[in-house]
Amino acid sequence: MTTTPVSTSSIEAKKKLFDMVLAFVKSQCIYTAARLGIFNLLQDEGEQSLESIAEKTNTKPERLYFVLRALAHLDVLKQKPGRVFASTELSDLLVTNKGPSMGHFAMHIIEPAQWDAWKVLEDALHTGEVPFERANGKGVYQFCQDNEWSGDVFINAMSFLTNHAVDALMDVYDFSRFETVMDVGGGQGGLIARIVKRFGCKGILFEVPYVAETAAAYLQQQGVDKDAVQIITGDVFVEIPKGADAIVMKYFISAWNDEDAMKILHNCKQALPPHGKIILLQAFVPDLDEPKVAPDGVMPGVFAVQVNVAVPGGGWRTRQHFQELFEKSGFVLEKVVDTQTNLSAMEFGRKS
Ligand SMILES: C[S@@+](CC[C@H](N)C(=O)[O-])C[C@H]1O[C@@H](n2cnc3c(N)ncnc32)[C@H](O)[C@@H]1O
Repeated sequence: MTTTPVSTSSIEAKKKLFDMVLAFVKSQCIYTAARLGIFNLLQDEGEQSLESIAEKTNTKPERLYFVLRALAHLDVLKQKPGRVFASTELSDLLVTNKGPSMGHFAMHIIEPAQWDAWKVLEDALHTGEVPFERANGKGVYQFCQDNEWSGDVFINAMSFLTNHAVDALMDVYDFSRFETVMDVGGGQGGLIARIVKRFGCKGILFEVPYVAETAAAYLQQQGVDKDAVQIITGDVFVEIPKGADAIVMKYFISAWNDEDAMKILHNCKQALPPHGKIILLQAFVPDLDEPKVAPDGVMPGVFAVQVNVAVPGGGWRTRQHFQELFEKSGFVLEKVVDTQTNLSAMEFGRKS
């Protein structure tokens, strides 16, 4: 009997595709274990038998086992003889009861409302709708405001992303030349807290009221002097307050399409003095000849689809696209700085 040899390249290609097609299983196992509090449990109480974890999470051991075993095969947990599971370096990053973590990020982007958006992606590609809005009848920000758990997880997910990137940014970008820096859409204030503490300038946090509600406590927790950061609530489409000589916007403009982004940039221009700067902090989608993977493993071109499914924006743009958008809005590019994460900075001054 003769067998046709399978070409190595075909095996490699299939390996790649198996991994991609089954990627959602990994996401779902992480999400489910995070929701059940299993990563917290193993870190707080140490290794446990399957039965003990099942009892404490009110789950059926024979079904839970599949999820825990898969997580162990992915090194997220460690499985020991006797169906005992223990935490690992990866599961410790997913713990959600000790401040913002990657666990919040996982729960935010994998939560059912987000998942529902992916189910209607194909239809939405035909109609041009925002999948999240089609699936949930409202935008992400409104959804998070209306659903306490989702809102809390979202805020913590954003704070995690800030903490993840901020040190690498500050190592290469000097904010000390500014008197007052305003973070527009700055979440709980993690970035502005770090800027004022490290560079000694004053700060303004501009946010929508429901997110700003918890910001004062968060800033205090970060050791920020009470008068170092002013919290102002409002809507970027109505007015952005004056008083800062630099505006930072991190993962903010990317939530809006070009038309809305230009409205925001117009309001930024009104708020800034003539020598004022905007520092755009973003992951930039690479051009054809640029590396596809950022130093922290994020693929901006892939992540951009998630953003595009969730919010009405153009998703993450290339540097060139951002530059054109800012130039049309009366700004001129003065500097580009890359960091050791997916976050880069583009600094713009006002056109005279
Ligand atoms: C994608 S998050 C980014 C948060 C933060 N800059 C970060 O990088 O972690 C966008 C933020 O913009 C805020 N936001 C949304 N719409 C806004 C509006 N119309 N005016 C002011 N802030 C807004 C949201 O509440 C949210 O905190």
